[in-house]
Amino acid sequence: MIIEPRTRGFICLTAHPKGCEQNVINQIEYVKSKGEIDGAKKVLVIGASTGFGLASRITSAFGSNASTIGVFLEKAPSAGRPASPGWYNSAAFEQQAEKAGLYAKSINGDAFSNEIKKQTIDMIKEDLGQVDLVIYSLASPVRTNPNTGKRHKSVLKPIGDVFTNKTVDFHTGNVSEVTIQPATEDDISNTVEVMGGEDWDMWITAMKEAGVLAQDFQTYAYSYIGPKLTEPVYRKGTIGAAKDDLEATAFKITEKSADLNGKAIVSVNKALVTQASSAIPVIPLYISLLYKIMKADGIHEGCIEQIQRLYADRIYGADLQLDDKGRVRIDDWEMREDVQAEVDKLWAIATTENLNEIGDLKGYSDDFFNLFGFKVDGVDYAADVDEVVAIPSIG
Ligand code: NAD
Ligand code: NA
Repeated sequence: MIIEPRTRGFICLTAHPKGCEQNVINQIEYVKSKGEIDGAKKVLVIGASTGFGLASRITSAFGSNASTIGVFLEKAPSAGRPASPGWYNSAAFEQQAEKAGLYAKSINGDAFSNEIKKQTIDMIKEDLGQVDLVIYSLASPVRTNPNTGKRHKSVLKPIGDVFTNKTVDFHTGNVSEVTIQPATEDDISNTVEVMGGEDWDMWITAMKEAGVLAQDFQTYAYSYIGPKLTEPVYRKGTIGAAKDDLEATAFKITEKSADLNGKAIVSVNKALVTQASSAIPVIPLYISLLYKIMKADGIHEGCIEQIQRLYADRIYGADLQLDDKGRVRIDDWEMREDVQAEVDKLWAIATTENLNEIGDLKGYSDDFFNLFGFKVDGVDYAADVDEVVAIPSIG
């Protein structure tokens, strides 16, 4: 079929297999161009199909020749109905891994469940014995807690006060004012249930009990901080409460893993266009200004540049350069004083009329479509493509 983008609000309902494949190939080429990283050889990535998790899987495989198992929740294609982008990304990843002689298997299912944890542990036991690196990169709006059977929904709201600020509809470029009502106590606890650290802890605990974690293993989860500007809706909002919980969980896991000399660390990453971040009010306007400034300064990065640098310079480099809260700060360039001062200046004057000029609205929009395999250079979108693509290890 000929597949075109079909957007509804902040989501795109279709994805292009060739565009997703090209994105994966481009990321692989980038990692290879940066040279070998003396990293882990057996790696589990939870949330491996898009965004930072996919970039982590690619960096491990093509930077360190690692065997990888990837867990994700993606929609398979059927005749006339394209898959979700993470499905196509994973199909392309496995094909490329196979070509390179690298072990790669995937599990498509709910990572929050006990069943998927067990299935993953069994696969590690059978195929790899143990893993030495676990990347935890889930982003989800919902979680069913396997202990209680209760389904929780996360929300993106400020805590305490009503928040009003500018935002942009990146499809139209329309800058407007948005007002968000503060969260209830339930909103906060539900968001922590979904995006906090409990599930990360459950994974590591289950893996430890099963003996599939190697001596000196490391596990990383990803977080975000961002500027004062977005604090009410991000770091001091409901999602920030969940990130506080995630960051505290790193210390708990490290403590529990002393017998293996295991370490759990949070890496704070840069703001990037993903399906999740597009849905957060205020953030798209911030990102479009940030992109403009970072591109002009030659310090713009996407997921793959961020993760390649995280591995090469920090995790397997000379020094993690932890902050006073024990976190890796690969958001260092985003948070540079000169960059943030420039964002503040532009934020104050941003309007519908000038955003195209002072911000990188086009970069935002292109990145958004790229997530779904559209507007990717070198792909013939007029050509008929087979929407039914198998992930080799899944079928
Ligand atoms: P993403 O949406 O691109 O990736 C999410 C991954 O989780 C996908 O592989 C998806 O299949 C998987 N997933 C979701 N629900 C699942 C479930 N129930 N079971 C199994 N897999 C499931 O998100 P991302 O932006 O790469 O975010 C990953 C992490 O990085 C998050 O913790 C996020 O907060 C953090 N982060 C994001 C940004 C940003 O700007 N996007 C910045 C810093 C940190
Ligand atoms: Na991810």
